[in-house]
Amino acid sequence: MSGSRGEKISLALLAVSAADVPLAAGLARELDLPIVPVDTDPAACEAYDVLLVVAGGVVALQQTPRLGRSAAARKKPGRRPTAGVLPGPVAVDFGSEAMRHRRRSGHNELLGRAVGVQGRRQPRVLDATAGLGRDSFVLADMGCAVTLCERNPVIAAMLARALQATLSGGDDWSGAVVRRMSLVAGDARGLSPHQLAAIDVIYLDPMFPRRDKSAAVKKEMALFQALLAGAGSEQVADELLPWALAQDVARVVIKRPSRAPFLGGRPPSHSVAGKAVRFDVHVRRPLPPA
Ligand SMILES: C[S@@+](CC[C@H](N)C(=O)[O-])C[C@H]1O[C@@H](n2cnc3c(N)ncnc32)[C@H](O)[C@@H]1O
Repeated sequence: MSGSRGEKISLALLAVSAADVPLAAGLARELDLPIVPVDTDPAACEAYDVLLVVAGGVVALQQTPRLGRSAAARKKPGRRPTAGVLPGPVAVDFGSEAMRHRRRSGHNELLGRAVGVQGRRQPRVLDATAGLGRDSFVLADMGCAVTLCERNPVIAAMLARALQATLSGGDDWSGAVVRRMSLVAGDARGLSPHQLAAIDVIYLDPMFPRRDKSAAVKKEMALFQALLAGAGSEQVADELLPWALAQDVARVVIKRPSRAPFLGGRPPSHSVAGKAVRFDVHVRRPLPPA
């Protein structure tokens, strides 16, 4: 897997207990990744940049000191990095307090308005850049049927596991939401005409990096930038946006930082703007009635 500047990012699976070994071994086979011994301490791991840690059925990405060192060397060649605490793991958790908080925040309302949720009208959405599935979950929570497309195999595997875990987790609210979500692992541009016929709105979120003051979010973004080669705004503007605009859908919605230029320089029909985030809406035809 290559990093944001083309360099190789090395990844391995780690099961934190013997009970986690079968899931970790299955993922190692599926993703064609090595597996490290059960007693490996991520904070002392020198062999890999990122570990995909399996603990109690949850799969999380954990960077090692090696990734921090390569990032520091990129910023200031020759400088010796200082030892520090590793950023916490990044996981997909649809039942988390953070997801419940997003539900109560104004962000949901803006996203809902942008895709055209209104009363009992709940458009069918293709989230063509699913990532950690947070926006998809918000849309499904508003009643939309959401198809999630994620082309990075590691992130797609994390999403698949999180969807499965939520369905079997026994929480009524998150279970009902996740039943409206279906994952397609792969490039959104590979969807068949049959799959696209069931879509009203294509949603794109190329938002890396995020200008967020929280250190936790900055570290999460650093990990993803290292993991996702060239999956930023330019790639989405050059490849996904022209494809999305050529599909027979009612709307294409793009998430942007509030002051960023229009993606690909293409002015939308209108924007739904919040303080930090803006949704640019390309209207192609009316949405189907409720
Ligand atoms: C900024 S993240 C999206 C974050 C997401 N909205 C969330 O709420 O977690 C962008 C994601 O889009 C994925 N991606 C980029 N181009 C893609 C494509 N052509 N097809 C499918 N996924 C793509 C990247 O791998 C990355 O995981």
